[in-house]
Amino acid sequence: MENFNLHISTKIYFGKGQITALAGELKARARRLLIVSGRNSARKYGILKDVIGQVKKTKIPFWELSGIYPNPHLDDVYEGIRLCRQEKIDFILAVGGGSVIDSAKAIACGVKYSGDVWDFFTRRAQVEDALPVAAVLTLAAAGSEMNGNMVITRTDTAQKLALGTEILRPVFSILDPVYTYSVPAYHIACGVVDIMVHIFEQYFSQDKATEVQDRLAEGLMKICIEHGPRAVATPKDYDSRAQIMWAGSLALCGLIGKGKKTDWATHYMEHELSAIYDVTHGAGLAIFSPVWMEHVLNAKTVDKFIEYGRRVWDVPSQNDTFKTARKTIAKTRSFFSSLGMPARLRDVGVKKEDLIKMAEKACRHWGGNLGAFYPLKKKDVKEIFYAAF
Ligand code: NZQ
Ligand code: ZN
Repeated sequence: MENFNLHISTKIYFGKGQITALAGELKARARRLLIVSGRNSARKYGILKDVIGQVKKTKIPFWELSGIYPNPHLDDVYEGIRLCRQEKIDFILAVGGGSVIDSAKAIACGVKYSGDVWDFFTRRAQVEDALPVAAVLTLAAAGSEMNGNMVITRTDTAQKLALGTEILRPVFSILDPVYTYSVPAYHIACGVVDIMVHIFEQYFSQDKATEVQDRLAEGLMKICIEHGPRAVATPKDYDSRAQIMWAGSLALCGLIGKGKKTDWATHYMEHELSAIYDVTHGAGLAIFSPVWMEHVLNAKTVDKFIEYGRRVWDVPSQNDTFKTARKTIAKTRSFFSSLGMPARLRDVGVKKEDLIKMAEKACRHWGGNLGAFYPLKKKDVKEIFYAAF
């Protein structure tokens, strides 16, 4: 295992009715508040009402920025930065899923920077300061509620870029599974896939002697496999929604990826898809992930697939190790299909002529190879895009 530092600083309030902690937390931390939310779900399903009820108790003046899109847009981040500067905001509360929380984080670091916030995403500048951010989570998927990552789309150049910094871990997050009852089945399914692929990106590694991380990862995968279908089928199954919500936060808070090299090639490929086609992130991952697995399966990687199959899917090892590995990959693909996920890029409206463009963009930011488990060359990335079509 490699050396690592880990400081998960986000305070979590988990469970039914935990919104009552909001007033006290804000009172201790905020003087002028910006509440960021999505297009309409938080308002429509009464979550914003609960939030504003708590804020009113504190008598802290507050402003609202709503209408954040899924695959959130840079233009909304600029608007948030303008509003924060104009109203001298000192604390940002995100009420939503990953898109809303990511936008809140980008606003928070953009306010403190004299240049263009996009510089952080293109690596022209580094985040050195930010307003504090907190979250009321309404959809389990991205893990943004407990990590310092954000992903923002610039629509004029069709770029979707990710950024991570410890400075932007939310100071606290409220996770009430009841707030996810209104999430449509399709978005629950996309969330389950996103969580599983976050785990894959950290689990599939060439590093040895990372048994703690691997066993934690396998446990979280089994939770997704057991509770994902129940959460999709039954909106008010509190226990399943709770398992998925907590698994989502743990999957990407740093716990299972430290001490080893992690991959992320599937995510970089998917970001190019959702940058152009505005596909839900989890649906894009459901397409790419099994194709990536098939592509990287070789003599150097097969043992990890065997281990994954045996421990997570109970696939017995056979003499033909490649056959066993392929069986495991097929199980992964059919699990995603059983949740209602698309299997091919053509299923989400992708045009064949865009494949090369997306594949080239996926490689652009990383100079050389994409991923670490089996470093993908440009040629591999192109083959994966075509195989996924
Ligand atoms: O816009 P509204 O009306 O709020 O509707 C949203 C949106 O349509 C809806 N929704 C959210 N909570 C709901 C609800 N509908 C009913 N009831 C509720 N309680 O769900 C839709 C999707 O929301 P979104 O926030 O986009 O989903 P998600 O949490 O999956 O976030 C996706 C974004 O996160 C990024 C993705 O790339 C994508 O842009 N990621 C962020 C990461 C991070 N910060 O660590 C890591 C991830 O890998 C991911 O890349
Ligand atoms: Zn993801």
